[in-house]
Amino acid sequence: MITAPLLPSPPLPGHLLVAADAAAAAAVVAERLEQALQRGAVLGLATGRTMEPVYAALRGRLLALAPAERAPLLARWRSFNLDEYVGLAADHPGSFAAFMRQQLADPLALAPRCLQLPDGVAADPDQEARRYAAALQAAGGIDLQLLGLGSNGHVGFNEPPCGPEAPCRCLELSTATRRQNAAAFGGDPAAVPAWAITLGTAEILAARVLLLVVTGEAKAEILRRTLLEPPCPEVPASWLQRHPRLQVVVDRAAAAALPPG
Ligand code: GLP
Repeated sequence: MITAPLLPSPPLPGHLLVAADAAAAAAVVAERLEQALQRGAVLGLATGRTMEPVYAALRGRLLALAPAERAPLLARWRSFNLDEYVGLAADHPGSFAAFMRQQLADPLALAPRCLQLPDGVAADPDQEARRYAAALQAAGGIDLQLLGLGSNGHVGFNEPPCGPEAPCRCLELSTATRRQNAAAFGGDPAAVPAWAITLGTAEILAARVLLLVVTGEAKAEILRRTLLEPPCPEVPASWLQRHPRLQVVVDRAAAAALPPG
């Protein structure tokens, strides 16, 4: 594993860690998540394929703890997910609520109140977005925000174009994103909900620490644009460069388009 702190020319924002592969990256991220839980941090959690090995590694770490150590840690778990599809109830297999139940809540026997997500079937999605943002604020905001990277540069579901001050809101998903996420809906992009509720770039950038995880060759070019091009609305994740405590964990394949260092 190679760690490359702030490279000279051109300077990379944040702190970059390049792991050998996705499993090694997941192991590093899971360790940081466990440390944050030990500190009683409010976690911001993400979904997507990138997070599956991360959550597997986190489950492994937590289930390996002695019950007397694990129980209090899980009892004070507080997390807010980035986003949810509009129109999907929590028991729909394609919902992010179902993903979180499968990945973390069920295997760890977490109380449902520990993991919060926007309600995809709220009668008024705009009002639900405002309620969710207020609940997050009432919890004191996010201490550690875990983030993946969309192939089109989205973060959470902040689709391009998007500035750095977008609030938590209900928005229409791009065709590219619906295509990218079709696997969870039998491979049919038309079956992917057209709308979602997402934390905005405003809430994401307000988190105390950001932990961006990117793996795989297919994300190499968008990762380069995210980290190295001037921040712009066409790559919403590029606003993360402005965060003073951005940590980036990638595998070698995703780092392929970054300058060597
Ligand atoms: C999804 C989620 C994002 C996620 C991204 C990447 O649509 N809304 O939070 O980070 O797209 O997904 P994946 O890890 O499957 O590539």
